[in-house]
Amino acid sequence: MTHMVKRVMIDRAKIQEMVDRLAGEINRDYEGQEIIVVGILKGSFIFMADLVRKITVPTLIDFMSVSSYYGGTKTSGIVKIVKDMDVNINGKNVLIVEDIVDSGLTLSNLKDLLYTKDPASLKVCVAFDKPDRRKTEIRADYVGMSIPDEFIVGYGLDYAGRYRNLPDVCILEPDGGKK
Ligand code: IMP
Ligand code: MG
Repeated sequence: MTHMVKRVMIDRAKIQEMVDRLAGEINRDYEGQEIIVVGILKGSFIFMADLVRKITVPTLIDFMSVSSYYGGTKTSGIVKIVKDMDVNINGKNVLIVEDIVDSGLTLSNLKDLLYTKDPASLKVCVAFDKPDRRKTEIRADYVGMSIPDEFIVGYGLDYAGRYRNLPDVCILEPDGGKK
């Protein structure tokens, strides 16, 4: 593996402002209702922990783990459930929490799949969004921050399983690249 160095793109203070804003929107939109917040592992775990502690409407927490396969030139992918939810979402308000939307294929396929379980409503909250990379129409209902087409790590996001624990969102650059 090429050695990578990192620089901060979004610091922890900015991230907390973003989480506060998102939780405010969610609390307002779901006032008087219960939600099932479903974190998509592993990337969402830190964002999820921050977000749900700011949510004041009645909340059930669950997690799923999925992996996506993109077939050749096709613009559709297949999402495979690695770990399914434990709760039954039939008739419930579901809020999916993801770390980042890139091509959008993971979310789009996951939404299709969850709709088959007949939730009362299904919305998506993402920490980060790379709109330039989109290959499907999908739009998250709650977006923390739109970012340029850079590969980021930290705050739950990884490169080959590493850097998830960094408290700030950082850009990876090849060693010797511009600082
Ligand atoms: P999509 O299906 O292309 O939208 O892929 C979304 C998934 O790709 C995310 O849940 C992340 O796991 C991963 N991903 C996309 N962009 C980044 C990035 O910049 N850093 C780390 N992981 C990323
Ligand atoms: Mg992920």
